[in-house]
Amino acid sequence: ISHPDRIITEDDIERLYESAKSLKLSKDEKIIDVIPQEFIIDSKDGIFDLPIGMFGLRMEAKVNILTGLVSQIDDLSNCVQSCGVDIDDIVLEPLASSYAVLNESEKKVGVAMIDIGGGTTDIAVFKKGVIKHTAGIGIAGSQVTNDISETLGIDEKEAERVKKEFGYAMVSEIINDDVVTIQGIKGRKPLRIEKSIISRIIQARMEELFVLAGQEIKRSGIESYLPAGIVITGGGSLLRGTRELALQVLGSEVNLGVPMDIGGGLIKEVESPIYATGIGLILHRMKYLSHRKNVKSLKGKKHPGLKNVFERIKHWFDEL
Ligand SMILES: Nc1ncnc2c1ncn2[C@@H]1O[C@H](COP(=O)(O)OP(=O)(O)OP(=O)(O)O)[C@@H](O)[C@H]1O
Ligand SMILES: [Mg+2]
Repeated sequence: ISHPDRIITEDDIERLYESAKSLKLSKDEKIIDVIPQEFIIDSKDGIFDLPIGMFGLRMEAKVNILTGLVSQIDDLSNCVQSCGVDIDDIVLEPLASSYAVLNESEKKVGVAMIDIGGGTTDIAVFKKGVIKHTAGIGIAGSQVTNDISETLGIDEKEAERVKKEFGYAMVSEIINDDVVTIQGIKGRKPLRIEKSIISRIIQARMEELFVLAGQEIKRSGIESYLPAGIVITGGGSLLRGTRELALQVLGSEVNLGVPMDIGGGLIKEVESPIYATGIGLILHRMKYLSHRKNVKSLKGKKHPGLKNVFERIKHWFDEL
């Protein structure tokens, strides 16, 4: 610890991350993130929060090192920057979502989060407050839409509407099996079919998704110790009957992960699983900045930009 008073600062954490980053990798890979699992200060282990502001002579850490392909990271970064947006940090998507939809108690006792997005479903398993396993599956909302489009011979846009308006992830969840009207492709005759037929197409794909998600959760090795069960989130979890299907396939308690009660006057419009990642990214940044503020005030200085950032974030929400 470099500080003369032996207070751990973000500079010490930064140096620790830097030393973890000196790991030798193949040329086409680079480190995206270093995720601490546990800190050890002067031989005292079991510290799961960032120890900024604590006292000590020596700090060690157990970390997860996240790597990615250089070409993919560079493509993505160029794409974002060409939209006029600067990149501060790259955060693993399931980790970002987890900041918004999981609380500390769930992560402490053990929980698995399944974030069903558009292109991919992300999985993250937590125990003792830290992330133990992450994985991605190439099945999510857009594959479901694509199945509806191909099976019924309708265009993607109509398939997306049909999924959201009439879709169920589980046939047995349909109460009134009404006949609905679906637009044919390019002026062709409309189709009139029961909701249960649409649902059968959806259920096949969603079952496959949860079977694969279950296999990934098993791979974490702590599947049988997840007292907080499974939390589903992401836009794909808004499909009716998804929770019930997950329960049937995975056999454990399933809850919907919604960003809420996170303070700062979060408005109703963002209380939806579809905003889990976005809200999680904001929370991640706010937590980092408030750590900096605490350290700076310990040193007798305030971080000048912090108030400004909170105000800007509040302003975005007000504008929604
Ligand atoms: N009401 C709804 N009912 C069913 N599906 C929905 C609903 N709203 C959104 N979706 C689906 O959610 C998916 C998008 O979810 P989300 O916004 O979480 O994805 P993303 O984070 O952009 O994608 P990814 O995580 O793959 O990068 C789309 O496939 C969309 O069809
Ligand atoms: Mg997503």
